[in-house]
Amino acid sequence: MTSTTSLFAPVEADLRLLTDNLKQLVGARHPILYAAAEHLFGAGGKRIRPAIVLLLSRATVMEAEIPARHFRLAEITEMIHTASLVHDDVVDESSLRRGVPTVHSSFNNRVAVLAGDFLFAQSSWHLANLDNLTVVKLLSRVIMDLAEGEIQQGLNRFDTTLSIDAYLMKSYYKTASLIANSCKSVGVLSQVSDTLTEALYQYGRNLGLAFQIVDDILDFTGSEEVLGKPAGSDLLSGNLTAPVLYAMEETPYLTTLIEREFAQGGDFDEAIALVRASRGIERSRELASQHVEKAVENLAGLSASEPKRALEALSSYVLSRLY
Ligand code: IPE
Ligand code: IPE
Ligand code: MG
Ligand code: MG
Repeated sequence: MTSTTSLFAPVEADLRLLTDNLKQLVGARHPILYAAAEHLFGAGGKRIRPAIVLLLSRATVMEAEIPARHFRLAEITEMIHTASLVHDDVVDESSLRRGVPTVHSSFNNRVAVLAGDFLFAQSSWHLANLDNLTVVKLLSRVIMDLAEGEIQQGLNRFDTTLSIDAYLMKSYYKTASLIANSCKSVGVLSQVSDTLTEALYQYGRNLGLAFQIVDDILDFTGSEEVLGKPAGSDLLSGNLTAPVLYAMEETPYLTTLIEREFAQGGDFDEAIALVRASRGIERSRELASQHVEKAVENLAGLSASEPKRALEALSSYVLSRLY
C-alpha cells in the first residue's frame, strides 16, 4: 500500500523480512496451508499491527537491531490478526479480502476453518516460546476477546436498541484489544516503567477504536475496488455500526427498515441512502478523531525519535483513509 509505505520507513526492511518469515512459518508443513499462506501473506495486507510493534520496539529499545523477541512478537500479532480474518470471512460469507478471493472462496470452508485454527495454534506456540508469562497472558486474553467480539456482534444483529457504548465495547474486543495488548507487550519486553507500559496500552486501545470506526465508515463511503473487500456489507448483515447508530437517532424510519430486516424491495438501498444523507458519517468521523487525538497524547512519555514521529503520523493516517 503506497499510502503507508513512507510511514513505515523506519521498519520497512524489518517488515519485508517478517512477511517472508510468516510465509515460511505457516506454510512449511502442509502444501494446502502453503497455498493459503502465500495467498494471505503475499496479498495486500497493510501490516499495521506488526509495523506498530516494530516502531514501538525501535522507540523503546535503543539498539541498532530490533531484539529477536520483539520481532517474534510482531509476527505473532500479524498471525493472530490474519487468523481472525480467515474465520471472520467465513462468518461474514465475504468473497474478497486484501483484493483477492478469500480462503474459503478460493478453497472451501473446511480449509478456511483449518487454516485459521492452524494460524491461531501457531501463534500460541510461538507466544509460549517467548518465555514471558506476562506477555502470554496479555495475548491469550486477546484471542478470547476476538471470539467475544464476534459473538457479541453475532448476537446483536439487527438490534436497533444497541448503544454507542456497547458498539465501542464490541469494537474493543474485536479490534482494539489486539493492538492495545501488543503495544503493552512491547513495553513489557522492553522493560519500560509501568506508567509508560500503561500509556502504550492506551495508545493501542485508542488507535484500535479509531481504526475500527474508520473501517465502519468506509463500509458506507468506500468502493470495493479501494477497500479490497465488498462495501456496504455491514448493514446488510445487520451489523449496526457508528454511522447507523447515529443516523437512527435522527431518522426513525431507518429504524423501521432495520427492524423488518430489509424485507421489502428497495428497503436496503433506501437505508443506505438514509445513512449517507444523515449526520451519521460526520459524527462517526468526530468520534474517530477524538480517539486519534488521545492516542497521540498517549505517546507523550516516549523520548523524541524517528519511530515515535512515525507512530504519531500513523494515528493521522488512520483518519486520512477517509479522504
Ligand atoms: C481489517 O483489518 C479488520 C479490521 C479490524 C477492520 P486491516 O484493515 O488491518 O486488514 P489488513 O491486514 O490490512 O488486510
Ligand atoms: C474483522 O472484522 C475481523 C476482526 C476484527 C476480528 P470486520 O468483519 O468488522 O471487518 P472486515 O470488514 O471484514 O474487514
Ligand atoms: Mg468481515
Ligand atoms: Mg465480521
